[in-house]
Amino acid sequence: MNKNNNNGQRALFTTKIGVIATTVGSAVGLGNIWRFPYEAGSNGGGAFMLCYILFIFIIGIPVLCAEFIMGRGTRSNIFGAYRKLSAGKWYIAGFMGIVASITIISFYSVVAGWICEYFVRSVSGELNMATSVEYHKAFEEFSTGNWHPVIWTLVFLALNFLILIRGVTKGIERMSNILMPLLFLLLVVFCINSLSLDRAAEGLAFLFHPDFSKITPQVLLSAMGQAFFSLSLGLGCMTTYASYFSRDTRLGRAAVTTAGLDTLVAILAGVIVFPAVFSFGMSPQAGPTLVFEVLPAIFHSLPGGVVWSSLFFFLLILASLTSTISMSEISIVFMVEELKIKRRTATFVNTAIAMILGSLCALSFGVLDNMTIFGMTIFNFFDYLSSNILLPIGGMIAAIFVGWVADKRFVKAQMTDNADSTPRLFPLLVFCLRFIAPVGIALVFLNSIGII
Ligand code: PFF
Repeated sequence: MNKNNNNGQRALFTTKIGVIATTVGSAVGLGNIWRFPYEAGSNGGGAFMLCYILFIFIIGIPVLCAEFIMGRGTRSNIFGAYRKLSAGKWYIAGFMGIVASITIISFYSVVAGWICEYFVRSVSGELNMATSVEYHKAFEEFSTGNWHPVIWTLVFLALNFLILIRGVTKGIERMSNILMPLLFLLLVVFCINSLSLDRAAEGLAFLFHPDFSKITPQVLLSAMGQAFFSLSLGLGCMTTYASYFSRDTRLGRAAVTTAGLDTLVAILAGVIVFPAVFSFGMSPQAGPTLVFEVLPAIFHSLPGGVVWSSLFFFLLILASLTSTISMSEISIVFMVEELKIKRRTATFVNTAIAMILGSLCALSFGVLDNMTIFGMTIFNFFDYLSSNILLPIGGMIAAIFVGWVADKRFVKAQMTDNADSTPRLFPLLVFCLRFIAPVGIALVFLNSIGII
């Protein structure tokens, strides 16, 4: 995406595909393929899935619309959007989004670094092992090491930096327009393969058959956090991207398409992983390491596994980059527009902070594994804090702000795309933003701390 045109003015996305490709590029990433399966596996499978889908519909899509309205309506970063729309202190929520974006990029880059290592191992044929125990051991050995994971984290962040600094985001996004459909196709092939495994039915039942007794406060909180994380919501990422939407972009349609495609990819990942978990005798509750043990085993069972896995890990690196680019933009655009810092310097500051915190996250599987915050390792704490707490709070504030505080005519003009269209669902959106989303998020929070 072009952040500025030659006159230093904000450039706009000119095509529909540009809008969808960048928002989907941000939404689809490790959150769908790494985080969704492990969260679903650790939180009761079907029970988690049901809550997750529900949250996408009743909270995710409305909050996504709210962020789009703020971004396109003000043509600003998240902090500037709050300031332009209200004289109150709402912009403090913008700061929270910036903190969340840095927290996320730190642990996200560690996982992206693991993917880089697995890409290299795959190309060099080192991922061919005989048993699931071996895959488990190999990953454990690698991730608890003190050098490799840190180096890969730094390499990945350096790559992200180079793309941002050389202004080649447009190139990357154009490339991902072609390659992401390929990733999707690959996922469909893996799905078909997983469905043919001998204990596939058990895996599918685990994922799609909700056991209502498993819907605990923790499951609700995790499913809500996953919905926010996966849609890149609650921290101003979608606000920043929407600030580049053109005047005639249909916001409602863009929100539904983005959420639909993102959810589809997560479900595909689940259908790939769980039949294999049961067929290969693994545990769905392995946590963040789950897909690094299951996926190589799946690839190994496929004819021409090396080619499949190399292609898959390569495409996943690209999908991760389009997501980290979008998280970086939140603080970079903030520094450029609000603090009047040069884009180059802002990008440098963003990367330097991410490199320091990212190294700590990487080491929290190794030497720093006994350094805990509220009983969690640094990596887990960053993940939990951002996904389960900061993003839902950010989303709740955005919903209340657009639903109650922002000028009604402004919201309506944005949502009906400046009267070019009149979405019949506008009153429903307002109802969701005013009541369903804030009350829903508050209930899940109160429930998780044991108040209700
Ligand atoms: N939605 C991305 C994923 O699922 O991988 C992660 C993400 C991107 C979160 C951008 C937050 C963000 F601002």
